Amino acid sequence: MPIAQRKITVVGAGYVGMTCAQLAAQRNLASEIVLIDVAEGRAQGIALDLNQMAAVEGFRSRVVGGTDPAITAGSDVVIMTAGLPRKPGMSRSDLLATNGKIIASVAQYVRDLSSEAIVIVITNPLDTMVHLMRQRTGFPPRRVVGMAGILDSARFSYFIAEETKTSAVDVDAMVLGAHGDSMVPIAQYCTVNGVGLPQLVKKERIDAMAQRTRDGGAEIVNLLKTGSAFFAPAAAGVAMASAILNDERRLLPCACFLNGEYGLEGIYMGVPAILGAGGVQKVLEIPLDTEARIQLQKTAGAIQKDLELLRSQGLL
Ligand code: LAC
Repeated sequence: MPIAQRKITVVGAGYVGMTCAQLAAQRNLASEIVLIDVAEGRAQGIALDLNQMAAVEGFRSRVVGGTDPAITAGSDVVIMTAGLPRKPGMSRSDLLATNGKIIASVAQYVRDLSSEAIVIVITNPLDTMVHLMRQRTGFPPRRVVGMAGILDSARFSYFIAEETKTSAVDVDAMVLGAHGDSMVPIAQYCTVNGVGLPQLVKKERIDAMAQRTRDGGAEIVNLLKTGSAFFAPAAAGVAMASAILNDERRLLPCACFLNGEYGLEGIYMGVPAILGAGGVQKVLEIPLDTEARIQLQKTAGAIQKDLELLRSQGLL
């Protein structure tokens, strides 16, 4: 298979960023993968290591690492991972000001150097950082999308697979709303190879798994102590990049800009969307039971609060 002549930039060479570069390279997702980081030498070192890995693994993507935004020019997709991760005891919102400034500076060079790019934001607190990225790039909302729902759904899937003693491959789970404590696991749309979750597991066990999903990021932060999860977040980001670059038209939960869907206007929030060429091709408005509808309103309120905080700091 020929490798597509296209360019992915991964911003931030921390654990999530370097794993994104690795997964994208191993999938031959683009002929050029750029990894950029403010720390002198870090992205260059990882790029060298990955290019040497290619000789063993047999992938054909070429990885370029550096600190100069010029190397990102003309990217088709930008995966934004730069920012501080949480420490034990911190909420994702505690990262608002620091990571907001990083988003603002990256948005500037993405806008100037890759004006046609589609941007996938992973940096936390996700729902506000994707909002800020959209505003600062000035790109249309379909070209700026946030990664969270796939990760949260993957966590829910894993817990369901363990509970039902089935393969996670057969589990379809859906988590909507904010990427925070108020996220909304939607049991109504969870299935194990088509069999509805409520048919397989008692309500109190579903509730317990939903809560473990909400706490899923913190559970890993508490174990790692010096950082947050990276394998599953990076895999989710690269799955989105693949859906977009290969026009896969995948129906995935992503943080999308809402224009009246779910009764919400002018905010980014996790909803089911179709991802393909051009970015977000469609936001799906699906029927929800009363409990999920109430929870979605609550989660939207939490995002509004963070947006207010960002405005009060003059970033938005
Ligand atoms: C998590 C971080 C990446 O959920 O938000 O693990």
